[in-house]
Amino acid sequence: MRAHKFGRTNVEVPVIGQGTWKIDGGEREASIQALQRGIDLGMRHVDTAELYGRGRAEDVVAEAIRGRRDEVFLVSKVMPGNASKKGTIAACERSLRHLQTDFLDCYLLHWPGEHPLEETIAAFDSLESSGKIRAWGVSNFDVDELEEAESIAGPNRIACNQVLYHLEERAIEERVLPWCEAHNVAVVGYCPFAEGTFVSPKSNGGQVLARIATKHEATTRQVALAYLTRTPHLFTIPKSSSVPHTEDNARAGRVELDHKDELALDHAFPMRKRKLLPTV
Ligand SMILES: NC(=O)c1ccc[n+]([C@@H]2O[C@H](COP(=O)([O-])OP(=O)(O)OC[C@H]3O[C@@H](n4cnc5c(N)ncnc54)[C@H](OP(=O)(O)O)[C@@H]3O)[C@@H](O)[C@H]2O)c1
Repeated sequence: MRAHKFGRTNVEVPVIGQGTWKIDGGEREASIQALQRGIDLGMRHVDTAELYGRGRAEDVVAEAIRGRRDEVFLVSKVMPGNASKKGTIAACERSLRHLQTDFLDCYLLHWPGEHPLEETIAAFDSLESSGKIRAWGVSNFDVDELEEAESIAGPNRIACNQVLYHLEERAIEERVLPWCEAHNVAVVGYCPFAEGTFVSPKSNGGQVLARIATKHEATTRQVALAYLTRTPHLFTIPKSSSVPHTEDNARAGRVELDHKDELALDHAFPMRKRKLLPTV
């Protein structure tokens, strides 16, 4: 499994991690098995949030990582409505209880919200000082919001920005990714399979993907994940509640695309500029 340094943390984190949105439904047992298989295969970055099933996804993660907390790079998120100074600290403590752990590797503000960023960052600082989190970051932040966060926190403090990124939604490449690269902020792409809709095999892009997949003896999804993690600041967090799918995704961590493959994918899935940062 390829790994990149996770922004300012200097921790080597596998480029392919695991998402946990919607894992608390009927698929609970399957999700636990899939998460455990993923960790076995090196997908140690596990992303969750208090929002997902109102803490129930964190409960599932707790069960999946029981007895192996040290293997996992564990990330959770505070909801913007809770992100006052006191509210962020309380939310983090709640997440720690759900996750049955005493620290998070990284704690994120889920999206920019109504509470002043100064308060959320003050809470992150306090949580970091008390050892409840090892680093903090943001999610769904455009460049003006990143600038604001950096002006409050100072340089080299934001560990990551988690943003929507898949083959058919590459808008982050215009402004957000270059800003994060220049400021050593890890970019964690969410919904790498467009929430399961993925590229149609009949489309031009689907055919280009299939050709590159054949060349690398890989699947089209593995090629997509390899492309989405092709530069040193990029990570991705596909969600799966299926062991075979998780195994498929983990193998993407071994696929190395060459320059020709990347150019072909650039052309097949052109970046569309957006006025506003796209989110789900
Ligand atoms: N920060 C944010 O605002 C934000 C927003 C959205 C998501 N996220 C995070 O990003 C994670 C990923 O996004 P997502 O869950 O929305 O969507 P996704 O990862 O793009 O897609 C998940 C879907 O793809 C299917 N799938 C996964 N691997 C597959 C494979 N190898 N072959 C076939 N199907 C496969 C899954 O089905 P199976 O379960 O059956 O495999 C599921 O239906 C979330 O779980 C969450 O942790 C963050």
